Amino acid sequence: MKLLICGGKGQLGTDCHAILARNHEVMSVDLDELDITDPLQVESAIAGFGPNVIVNCAAYTAVDACETRSEMAWKVNAEGPRNLAAAAKRYGAQLIHISTDYVFDGGKAPPESYVETDETHPVSCYGRSKLAGENAVKEATNNYMILRTAWLYGIGGPNFLKTMLSLTLKDPTREIKVVNDQFGSPTWSYRLALQIEKLINEEGQGVYHATAEGHGTWFQLASEFLDQMVVPHCVVPCTTADYPTLATRPMNSILENRRLKESGMNLMQDWRSDLRQFVAEFRDRLISEAREEPR
Ligand SMILES: NC(=O)c1ccc[n+]([C@@H]2O[C@H](COP(=O)([O-])OP(=O)(O)OC[C@H]3O[C@@H](n4cnc5c(N)ncnc54)[C@H](OP(=O)(O)O)[C@@H]3O)[C@@H](O)[C@H]2O)c1
Repeated sequence: MKLLICGGKGQLGTDCHAILARNHEVMSVDLDELDITDPLQVESAIAGFGPNVIVNCAAYTAVDACETRSEMAWKVNAEGPRNLAAAAKRYGAQLIHISTDYVFDGGKAPPESYVETDETHPVSCYGRSKLAGENAVKEATNNYMILRTAWLYGIGGPNFLKTMLSLTLKDPTREIKVVNDQFGSPTWSYRLALQIEKLINEEGQGVYHATAEGHGTWFQLASEFLDQMVVPHCVVPCTTADYPTLATRPMNSILENRRLKESGMNLMQDWRSDLRQFVAEFRDRLISEAREEPR
């Protein structure tokens, strides 16, 4: 099969490229080669390559920055997917579009989880722009998969875990306050890329939740990660109120992979065991990259 990956240099895009290129002909592009907000660029890339499947990992993912750059968020997260879906339809391709747990408002009491059919109600500009992207895809084509994932980390690209590591390596005695009252499922981008491969092979259709199994808080994630990395740290729990941010985040964005499970396709693993594997594979590289960062 011919697969086009957009946002191919991002965190998920990097892992998708590595996984999908094993058995498919893959063209992976990022903003410098294909700006998904430009319908003409999208049209010409899809007409030229002729993919069977387009995997859209491109997004404006800076949740707080979306609050002040809402136009940009809307262009990349809503208009971009619309351009891809319209062109996918014209050229007979399926679009796999990645969305987010932040389409929910988080009002359920943890550990209750959200399923694919639950009502969406985003509480941030990022969440609203991603929901608009989902709706644009559904309006433009019938041949799509929308995968809602959450709290992504991976070896390619910056993320919360890398930030925690670099802060603690700079000064292990420094107290790092981390929010302990928001619940979600930290998801390894490599595992999600394997899940995407499975869905392509099994010809999935429609909306899927695709997050790691189990749930935790940002504080639990940071502590577990730094413990597994065996680096000294001083991570302390705080509340959302203690750590104000521009964007409101859902207090509970635990998703259940109900459709993946019902169809027998769920490859997602417990988040702690994925984290262990991630650390076992990348510990040295993570430390040397963090040490290379300018102080
Ligand atoms: N990260 C998370 O915690 C998280 C959680 C839930 C859902 N998701 C969703 O998962 C998907 C993948 O996230 P990720 O963490 O891999 O994101 P990422 O690392 O930020 O990668 C996104 C990529 O898209 C590129 N991009 C930005 N604007 C573009 C445009 N106009 N045209 C083409 N490419 C563009 C970015 O390039 P630049 O870097 O040059 O801007 C970047 O390489 C996204 O849809 C995101 O909304 C992420």
